[in-house]
Amino acid sequence: MDIFRIEGPVQLSGSVKINGSKNAALPIMAATILAPGKSTLKGVPHLSDVSVCGELLGRLGCKLSRNQNDDLCIDSTVIDNPVGEYEIVRRMRAGICILGPLLARYGRAEVSMPGGCAIGDRPVNLHLKGLQTLGAKIHLKNGYIIAETPNSLKGKEIFMGGAFGSTVLGTANVLMAATLAKGKTVIESAACEPEIIDLANALNKMGAKISGIGSPRLTIEGVRQLHPVEFEVIPDRIEAGTFMVAAAITASQLRLENCRLNDMMGVVDKLRSIGVTIDAQDDGCVIARRGTIKPADITTQPYPGFPTDLQAQFMALLSLAEGNSVVIEKIFPDRFMHVAELTRMAANLRKEGQVVIVAGVKKLIAAPVMASDLRASAALVLAGLAAEGTTIINRVYHIDRGYERIEKRLNPLGAKIFRENV
Ligand code: EPZ
Repeated sequence: MDIFRIEGPVQLSGSVKINGSKNAALPIMAATILAPGKSTLKGVPHLSDVSVCGELLGRLGCKLSRNQNDDLCIDSTVIDNPVGEYEIVRRMRAGICILGPLLARYGRAEVSMPGGCAIGDRPVNLHLKGLQTLGAKIHLKNGYIIAETPNSLKGKEIFMGGAFGSTVLGTANVLMAATLAKGKTVIESAACEPEIIDLANALNKMGAKISGIGSPRLTIEGVRQLHPVEFEVIPDRIEAGTFMVAAAITASQLRLENCRLNDMMGVVDKLRSIGVTIDAQDDGCVIARRGTIKPADITTQPYPGFPTDLQAQFMALLSLAEGNSVVIEKIFPDRFMHVAELTRMAANLRKEGQVVIVAGVKKLIAAPVMASDLRASAALVLAGLAAEGTTIINRVYHIDRGYERIEKRLNPLGAKIFRENV
């Protein structure tokens, strides 16, 4: 198993190119099921989650390859085994996203329930409610969702809001199924994340008729069939946010290329309030922190609110602020596995339910720590860049799920991260 050995504190400088978005690529890969033939997806990063999604599509019958431009080619002409196996879906929850497309294309799907997750309870009741409203008959059997449409799916009005607001992958699943349903579907309280906008744009390029894209009300006129496409996924706003925090926590200046500030205005606003400067430039920005880190209050919300996928990274940053900050996690109330690990690095954090009081400290001290999930592990890497001494991060496989060889991206900027196999 790989570990990271990180020497700190360091200062960073230079520029880094932001990769394509994991959370846009995964549902768009599933969407190729709807369009029999060969689709070409550009900008799909090399991540373990992408490989697992590829494995899942491969088991359905799809043929996957990378061409000389490193584009991901998915040939979905033949799908002869509409089953999403537990052994794969348990490794990548986004695998649930094949349910809607399989149902729409085949009228039948068997997909494993995703199972438990380190960041907390992650039900799929809204996914199932949406698909049932479109006419699917759904029952659970041996941990599998069995979904069938005796007659084809029929367009309907669906309210998709849940206890924590909209659902990203739930919206994706129902949106994809509705593209081939008979008649008009209206999804109310749809997720508005840039990744959902990207999925809807990809579907429209395949021949779907979706309007209201980017708003909480999506309208879909069902069509008879979709065709394969060539499509470039958007840059990864969560990766960009992570690199922004890397510059901020090390009092450095960095240039981010291929970064869409327009997709991350809430994040940029928060960083500026913390004392970080961000100047848009060409296809990216220059980010720098020179003065002290100011405290800030953060409440995670569905887009365009502050993303839960940057909560851990900002907690690491605010642990070095001059003063107290309050972090409230409203999307995944238990998403605090990083709190105990940052505390091991001398952060002063007090957790009360879904609230963490972050009392800023002068410095972080290196320690051996344990990665528990993707974004928590990113926060530990960022803390390691600023901490005094050698930080050891165990279970690095978590970070490989969402960041492509992060040490190879940070070390040229001045970081000292060594991957070791123990
Ligand atoms: C997506 O997960 C992202 N994953 C997550 O990123 C991200 O944290 C999350 O959206 C929120 O932004 C991908 O895109 C692959 P949700 P998703 O359904 O769609 C509740 C990362 O780090 N809910 O929007 O699974 C749910 O429990 C990952 O890259 C229901 O109650 O999240 C949560 O509290 C981690 N019933 C809230 O809604 C449902 O049927 C939002 O979850 C579905 C969700």
